[in-house]
Amino acid sequence: MKNLTSKMLLNMWRDFWLKNGHKEIKGASLIPEDNSVLFTTAGMQPLIPYLMGKPHPMGKKLFDCQPCLRTNDIEDVGDNRHHTMFFMLGNWSIGSYFKEEAIKWSYDFLTNEKYLAIPKNRLAVTVFQGDERVPRDEKSASLWKECGISEDRIFYFPKKDNWWEIGGGVGPCGPDTEIFYDTGKPSCGKNCDPSCDCGKWVEIWNNVFMEFVVEKAGDPLKKLPQQNVDTGMGLERVVSVLNGYKSTYQNDCFEKAISVLENLSGKKFDFEKKDSKPFAVVCDHIRASVFLLGDVKPTVPSNVGQGYILRRLIRRAVNCTKSLNIEAKSLIEVAKCFIEFYKDEFKNFEQQEQFILSELEKEIEKFNKAIDGGLKEFSVVTKNMKKGDIIDGKTAFRLFDTFGFPKELTLELATEKGFSVDLKGFEEAYKEHQQKSRDNSGAMFKGGVSQSESEQDKQILARLHSATHLLHSALRKVIGNGAEQRGSNITTERLRFDFVCDHKMTPEELEKVENLVNEAIKADAPITCEEMSLEKAKQSGAIGIFESKYGDKVTVYTMGEFSKEICGGPHASHTGELGTFKILKEESSSSGIRRIKAVLK
Ligand code: SER
Repeated sequence: MKNLTSKMLLNMWRDFWLKNGHKEIKGASLIPEDNSVLFTTAGMQPLIPYLMGKPHPMGKKLFDCQPCLRTNDIEDVGDNRHHTMFFMLGNWSIGSYFKEEAIKWSYDFLTNEKYLAIPKNRLAVTVFQGDERVPRDEKSASLWKECGISEDRIFYFPKKDNWWEIGGGVGPCGPDTEIFYDTGKPSCGKNCDPSCDCGKWVEIWNNVFMEFVVEKAGDPLKKLPQQNVDTGMGLERVVSVLNGYKSTYQNDCFEKAISVLENLSGKKFDFEKKDSKPFAVVCDHIRASVFLLGDVKPTVPSNVGQGYILRRLIRRAVNCTKSLNIEAKSLIEVAKCFIEFYKDEFKNFEQQEQFILSELEKEIEKFNKAIDGGLKEFSVVTKNMKKGDIIDGKTAFRLFDTFGFPKELTLELATEKGFSVDLKGFEEAYKEHQQKSRDNSGAMFKGGVSQSESEQDKQILARLHSATHLLHSALRKVIGNGAEQRGSNITTERLRFDFVCDHKMTPEELEKVENLVNEAIKADAPITCEEMSLEKAKQSGAIGIFESKYGDKVTVYTMGEFSKEICGGPHASHTGELGTFKILKEESSSSGIRRIKAVLK
C-alpha cells in the first residue's frame, strides 16, 4: 500500500482488533517490571505472567503497540533497517482463540481492502515442520490454504525458523507461522524461499501458538494450562516494505527530525547512501533517548545498567553531529520533534518535556567537557609514540570509559597522527567491563527473560518490592505528596527508589521515614490485591503511576492503613515478612530527583 504512514497503520490496527472483540492494553514501560532484563525487547514480554496462566484484568483477547528497545544491533544502526527502539504491534489470545481465528484474522488484516490490502500473491507463509517433540503443523498450513494462500506459497521450516521461544529457551514457547511479503524482486535462484536473505522476502508478521512451556533449563516441554496466541508485527518495517521504501527511516515519525537535520547541516539524507549514517543514528538514538527519559519509569544517563545505554545513545548521537557539522545542542531540537510527534499517544511526554530536554542538555554538556578532558589524555598517552605505533586496547577503552571518548573518535585521532588502535583489545576490555557491571547488578542482566530467578530470589524480590511501597508512602508522609515515584529498581541485594524532592533529605527526615516503614512492618498488615477501574482506584486514594487509559482495569495493592498503590506485583503476603528496613544511602539522582538505596535485614 502506497503512502501508508505509521499513524495510519496504528489506527488500522486499533480499528481492526476493536472490531474483532479485543481490548487495547497500553504499551508497558521500556523498563521491565521484573528486572530480569534491562529493557522490554518484545511485545509479549510484559505479558509473560498471563501467557503462563494468570488471569489478565482486561480479559482474554488483547492488542497493543509496544515500544521495544534492543541494543544487540546498536552498531548496525545507521544502515537502512536497524533500530534500537521500535514499535511492535501485537494481538493476544490469553487462553481464548487459537490457530483458526488467529490465522483468519491475520489474513483478513493483511488482505482486506479496508486494511492493508496486500494482494494475496504477494504473501508467503512458513509453518513448523515438526520435530521429535511436536508434530508438523498441518493445521496452520491447511488454514492458510482455506484463506486462499496457494500451496507453493506455504513453506515448512525447522525449529530454527518456526519455533518461538525466549532467548535461552526457558519460558512459554511454541511453533509459529511467519508471514512474508514478496517485494517483487526476481528470485535469486531456484532455491529462493522466505528463509533466503536476498531481499525478495521480508518477514512482516509472526503468529506464535504458545501452548508449551519449558520450566527450567534442561526440562522437557510441558503443555501450558491454556493455549495462547502471541503475535508481533514491526511497525516501522511494515510501513517501509508496503510503501516499497528503501529504508525504515522513510517514515512519518522521522520526517520532522530529518528536515531539522537537513536544514541545519545543509546536507540531504539520502536513504540509500552509506554517508547518510549520521542522520539515521541521530534519528534512532534521540528517539530512543526521548522514550527512555519520557518513560513512566524514566531512566537518566549514568554509568550502569539502563542509564549506561542511555548515555551511550546520547553520546553516539553527539558524535554524529560532528560528522553533520552541526552543533551538538541541535539534538534538543531533534528531541522536540519526537516529543511533538508522539505526545498524543504517550501522555507523559508533554508533562515530562522539561525533564527530557534538560537531561539531554546536561548529558550533551558533560560529554563535551569529557571530550576536552579526553583530548588532553590522548595527547598524554600518545606523547612518546611514533608513526605506525599501536594504541593498546586497554588505553582505548580507558579513553572511552573514563573520558567518554567514543571508539570511533580515538580511531579518527589515531589515524590522523599515523597510529593505529588495537580494536580487538578494545572489545575485550569492553566485554570484561560489561561482565563486571552484570555481576554488579545482581538480579539484572541474567542473560535474557529466560533465566527465571530461583524461588528464594523471587521471595526476596517480592519482599523488597513491598518495602518499596511502604517507603513510597512514608516519603509522602514525611516530605509531602509531591514525593512521587520517578524510578525503582530492585535486585536481590537491595531496593533503589527515585522520587521527586527538591532538597537533600535531612538525617531527621530519613529517620522518620525509616521508622514509619518499620512500624508498618511491625503491624504485620496483610497485603491484599484487588482489580478495579482506574477511576475507582484514584477515588480510593491509590497512588502510583496512572499509566492506564480510561476504561482499563488496574490492580491495587493495599497494605493495611499504610499503603495503597497501583502495581502489577508480585508482593509478600504480610508486611511482617519484611524484617527490618534500613536506608543505606540518600543521594541525588538527577536534578529535582533524589534516590534512596535501602535493604531489608
Ligand atoms: N513473541 C514473538 C516475537 O517477538 C511474537 O510477538 O516475534
